[in-house]
Amino acid sequence: MSTDLHTGFDEEMYPYINKGLAGIIAFSTTKSFIDGEKGELIYAGYNIDTLAENATFEEVCFLLWNDRLPNTSELEEVHEKLKKHRALPEPVVNYIKSTDKKAEPMSVLRSAVSMLADSDETKGKFDEALFMDQAISITAKIPTIIAYFDRVRSGKEIVEPLNEGSTAFNFLYMLNGEKPGQHAEKTMDLCLILHAEHGMNASTFTARTVCATMSDMYSSITAAIGALKGPLHGGANTAVMNTLLELQAQGEDADAVEFTKKKLANKEKIMGFGHRVYKIFDPRGRHLQKMAEDLSVETGHENFYKWSMDMLKTMKEEKNIDPNVDFFSATVYYSMGIQPDLFTCIFTMSRVSGWTGHFMEQAANNRLIRPRALYVGEKNLDWTPVEDR
Ligand code: SDX
Repeated sequence: MSTDLHTGFDEEMYPYINKGLAGIIAFSTTKSFIDGEKGELIYAGYNIDTLAENATFEEVCFLLWNDRLPNTSELEEVHEKLKKHRALPEPVVNYIKSTDKKAEPMSVLRSAVSMLADSDETKGKFDEALFMDQAISITAKIPTIIAYFDRVRSGKEIVEPLNEGSTAFNFLYMLNGEKPGQHAEKTMDLCLILHAEHGMNASTFTARTVCATMSDMYSSITAAIGALKGPLHGGANTAVMNTLLELQAQGEDADAVEFTKKKLANKEKIMGFGHRVYKIFDPRGRHLQKMAEDLSVETGHENFYKWSMDMLKTMKEEKNIDPNVDFFSATVYYSMGIQPDLFTCIFTMSRVSGWTGHFMEQAANNRLIRPRALYVGEKNLDWTPVEDR
């Protein structure tokens, strides 16, 4: 059987299956463009480098929701609406306060976002006139859910959102109980920009599939959170941090090159490396690498950056595989004092802007998403009574 491991395409038995839907074009979209060979990423017309240097996360949200940048009054309106929607419905606050403190943050986030639907009196209506406000409301509330749970599980009082400041500013304020400095806010804002949108990744595909049944936006985002949670997708940033902490446990002189080679010899996947589309360094990773280098020095975590570079070189030499967006973001978040099991939640609070943008795009030109499967089991077997089986 001549199977291509990368696509699962097999001429003999599976004439039409692309394993993992690799290479399948399922939709047209204006939300983003990726050139995996050149390492180019564009959000609705703007190169990620242009946005990283000039935009704020709120401008990127507007861009992904409207396919254009906001003017001054539109940007002010986005800020005002996000501020207005940061507070959580009481049942959701009660859930966060009462759930198991040892629960996974991504599981709590998934449950809490699902609960938001109960307090939305427009729930259940599949109406394009409602989607923008729902997108803003969910985007505004996710940082609050994350920060509240981290405070509660740490035995601290929750810190309510301020009626001022950006999404990044408020998230760090609610998480740490003190207003962040400009550098920390800018760092978080840039991380949110870099993680906002990325074409037909697994969680965005999930969001569109749920939308296509004319279900509601809360169901779509809840499902997408479930998809992002997996270590082959958004969960990789937490897994990268666990790898670096494993190295740290070996002491200052841990050998990241040997460590990496041993894992490869055991046929283990090295988290934070590889990508279905990029065949060179993920363009987002370059910005995160610079942030990781600077922050690791500023916060005394130089070893994490050194080990990261050793792993990067080893993966390139051994497998010709480059880091993806999750690799350096781990060192950035850890250097900012954020718990590793919150890293994928931060990915979520950014990617919800892309998911909701895709939801609205799908709804505007919808068709139920329903591929086929090639049945390879037995057919028309004779019945055998249970006592004879
Ligand atoms: C994200 O899709 C997106 O856009 C996602 C994302 C986004 O913004 O939404 O960019 C975010 O999810 C980034 C990816 C985070 N995941 C990880 O870091 C987990 C580790 N990476 C791998 O599991 C893998 O690279 C995937 C899942 C990301 C991609 O998998 P593919 O396209 O199915 O490729 P594959 O698993 O078939 O690997 C092809 C070859 C294999 O070697 P051979 O068996 O042919 O010898 O490359 C090897 C793999 O073993 N390989 C790796 C590897 N990634 C691929 N070997 C070791 N370590 C790795 N990380």
